[in-house]
Amino acid sequence: MTDQPQSRRHAGRRALVTGGATGIGRATVSRLAAEGAVVVVNYVGGPDDANELVGEVGNAGGRAIAIEADVSNEDQVVSMFARARDELGGPIDLLVNNAGIEKPFLLVDMPLDEWSKVIAVNLTGAFLCAREAARGMIDAGVPGAIVNMSSVHEQIPWEKFGHYCASKGGMKLWAGTIAKELAPHRIRVVNVGPGAILTPINRDLIEHPEEKRRVEAEIPWGRLGKPEEIAAAVAWLSGPEAEYITGTTIFVDGGMTQYPGFI
Ligand code: NAI
Ligand code: BGC
Repeated sequence: MTDQPQSRRHAGRRALVTGGATGIGRATVSRLAAEGAVVVVNYVGGPDDANELVGEVGNAGGRAIAIEADVSNEDQVVSMFARARDELGGPIDLLVNNAGIEKPFLLVDMPLDEWSKVIAVNLTGAFLCAREAARGMIDAGVPGAIVNMSSVHEQIPWEKFGHYCASKGGMKLWAGTIAKELAPHRIRVVNVGPGAILTPINRDLIEHPEEKRRVEAEIPWGRLGKPEEIAAAVAWLSGPEAEYITGTTIFVDGGMTQYPGFI
């Protein structure tokens, strides 16, 4: 797999990437647009990053639009999908549930609102968006794909991140379940499980060389991943060559899930 688009395999598709203005989401928007999809860049908060990305996609000959919505807010998600359908002329047929947050707390120090926030964005947000996307595809009778940005922490326990691990672990069985429900409608559901990737969510890690070295030691491949490497996996998994893949997780982690520290 390379960082470069190999084809126009997503030509004619309507994609939506949540949390699409930064990090892995941003690389995914660029990749899907380069492969021919028209892409909705979902964002929350200031529009600058999203608008800049829309401009970049346009300059590269593609098309993207920015829509603000908090994925954990049902009304905002429903409105976003309705607006996307109006502006793009049909339902979203490629959803990337990418929005996610994390903040460390030991169990004994975890405030309920911090727990609830992480579950609301990472898991409930994915549910709300998947539900709206699936409704749109089923109503229109179009096939499609839902890709969830999970994590190695779908599988690896991570101290101080109980809420995050619960959200990604929950995503695993939820994705398998909806994959069964949606298969008769020719809608695939796949989780991508990144390892440690160079994005804003890892700002603290990237800015502290010692911490970075400690994480690199957890990766057999010996380095952190690039957002473009995750985007390449999303583009392939949501494309026609991956038609027989549904209900499972593909880890893109330099071998992190093989527990290099365990001898
Ligand atoms: P990021 O912080 O750049 O991306 C997260 C995005 O989600 C941001 O654009 C943020 O504005 C958006 N977001 C947060 N709350 C939102 C809400 N309520 N509604 C809509 N958007 C919201 O970091 P990154 O790394 O690109 O994260 C993307 C996904 O990848 C997350 O789900 C994260 O859990 C996952 N991931 C990241 C890894 C990494 O090492 N960077 C590894 C494994 C998974
Ligand atoms: C987290 C990152 C972390 C990586 C590996 C991801 O799910 O978002 O902060 O570096 O897992 O531990």
